[in-house]
Amino acid sequence: MDELTRLKRGQAPLLEWYRRARRDLPWRGERTPYSVLVSELMLQQTRVEAVKERYVRFMERFPTAEALAAASEDEVLKCWEGLGYYSRARNLRRAAEIIAKEGFPQTWVGVRSLPGVGDYTAGAVCSIALGLKTPAVDGNVLRILTRLFADGQNIDEAGAKKRFSDLLERVYPENAGEFTEALMELGAIVCVPNGAPMCGACPWEGLCAAHAEGREEAFPVHGEKRARKIVEATVLVLRAGGTYALEKREGGLLKGMYGFPFFEGEAPEFGKTLAVKRAKHVFTHVEWHMTGKLVETERFGPYLWASAEEIEERYAIPSAFKAFSEWVK
Ligand code: ADE
Repeated sequence: MDELTRLKRGQAPLLEWYRRARRDLPWRGERTPYSVLVSELMLQQTRVEAVKERYVRFMERFPTAEALAAASEDEVLKCWEGLGYYSRARNLRRAAEIIAKEGFPQTWVGVRSLPGVGDYTAGAVCSIALGLKTPAVDGNVLRILTRLFADGQNIDEAGAKKRFSDLLERVYPENAGEFTEALMELGAIVCVPNGAPMCGACPWEGLCAAHAEGREEAFPVHGEKRARKIVEATVLVLRAGGTYALEKREGGLLKGMYGFPFFEGEAPEFGKTLAVKRAKHVFTHVEWHMTGKLVETERFGPYLWASAEEIEERYAIPSAFKAFSEWVK
């Protein structure tokens, strides 16, 4: 059976399954194009469980594009704290400025040209919010399709996403948003990545080529993974009279975020070390292996000195530093 036929036959059972089995997620209630943009940007690279509560809070604080556009970047970053990939938050705020001024774009090209919106997010937003027949191919969707077809193409190769996207485009139904979310949902709760997929619960059990071969786990095929770069660093929690030193990071990872003073390798001595703790944070391409030190000192230098309460209320400290936040009190 060719791929297109398999997909066409799969469509009705998938939608029927989705209506029955879908999770009740906060962004699946009443939605506006803006709220779909928020949830899809939040869900990029971030697990549904981590997003749920944060999405609700974000929408309470910034219910419309106008409200978000009127906020300062630091306020928005504070509300994004802990979600990671902070350029998403900055881009979302810039997108809100455009939407507040010009209205929500009504075409794929218009949505795709908003800051921070790539092919995947444009496809998701256009299908879910605008009902356009635009596929959204992410890792979940690649996994379920490569399994359905027992397709051995290396999905990390350029062009792999486009190939599956073109194929999907030819079968998109009128209820485009539902189809997009059904594909995502199957990958998220049945055709899961690590460990055995739950083929017994899958609407494609009888249709899936990988399942017929008993080789679900062989797909998708990945290219060789590049090793992450390891950076040894020292992080100082400098304490002076009940305040703590923060720096606004100027370049590289976590640019524009507030963090504790960070030194690649060793740090200079600034006072008496009261505690030491090791922690690790894994980014996409880099790992920070950190030695954190709590140091009693006097206020000095270029740092911003803030109390524990001020830090809590005003400054977004990325999770990379969270291991050392326990010293701030
Ligand atoms: N991941 C990305 N978008 C999603 C959505 N709309 N529902 C569930 N998981 C998602």
